[in-house]
Amino acid sequence: MACALVAGLLLAPAFAADDETVAYPAAGTVDGATGLEAWSRIYEVASHPRCANCHTGESDVPMWSGPSYGDEPRQHGMRIRAGESRIGAEHLTCSTCHSYSEIPQTVPHAAPRVGASWQLAPAEAHWFGKSSEFICAQLRDLERNDGRDYLALADHIGHDVILHWAWSPGVGREPAPYSLAEHIMDIHLWGAAGQPCPQD
Ligand code: HEC
Ligand code: HEC
Repeated sequence: MACALVAGLLLAPAFAADDETVAYPAAGTVDGATGLEAWSRIYEVASHPRCANCHTGESDVPMWSGPSYGDEPRQHGMRIRAGESRIGAEHLTCSTCHSYSEIPQTVPHAAPRVGASWQLAPAEAHWFGKSSEFICAQLRDLERNDGRDYLALADHIGHDVILHWAWSPGVGREPAPYSLAEHIMDIHLWGAAGQPCPQD
């Protein structure tokens, strides 16, 4: 029953971050296997270069990785450091090059830009090079995810324009997999199943 309902939801045509007509599954209505499948898609997104390059943990260095950067991941060029501020306030601010604009970058290899202050993610949300098990444990740990349950997490993802960039990153960059709306649905499926992780 729950599976049929969920399958119906996944086939629904309209996905949009703020679309109040999208029906999300209620807590406890999704089985563990479906929740784990949703988690594996969430991990594909979180570990994709468009997300992970900013989620570099204790390091204050953003990464350059993904198809447009050559074979090997490397540290951001020009010795860029984010510092404790994560916006480079102690060094050279990120926004010096990553300017505020709602229009995606149109020049290949120019600094990507968003309609928000470009900065490195908090150290706790360390995803670059981390396993599915590690990221899963972090994202359901209220002490390491800024106190967000899965509903707050889905809401954050729906409203934070800095990460929306990953699905429209501008010319020459591979977008994150799936779509923003599918990612939000996956957070709901995973959460409604009780946030299962592969190591459980
Ligand atoms: C001196 C200019 C400059 C500054 C300052 C700068 N960046 Fe960049 N950044 C770039 C350029 C140019 C690129 C794209 C390089 C390319 O595509 O070959 C880039 C790319 C990136 C990427 C990779 C995006 C992707 O494709 O996934 C991240 C992440 C990033 N910057 C984070 C930061 C952060 C965080 C700061 C501040 C701590 C910062 N940058 C400061 C110029 C800058
Ligand atoms: C330009 C750098 C940047 C990129 C790219 C980026 N993030 Fe983030 N991320 C941040 C910053 C900064 C925060 C902290 C802001 C906040 O929590 O309001 C954050 C926080 C988060 C959080 C809350 C994490 C927690 O546990 O506290 C989630 C979830 C998240 N990002 C998901 C993503 C996803 C998914 C992608 C790719 C689709 C992505 N981010 C790409 C910078 C980035």
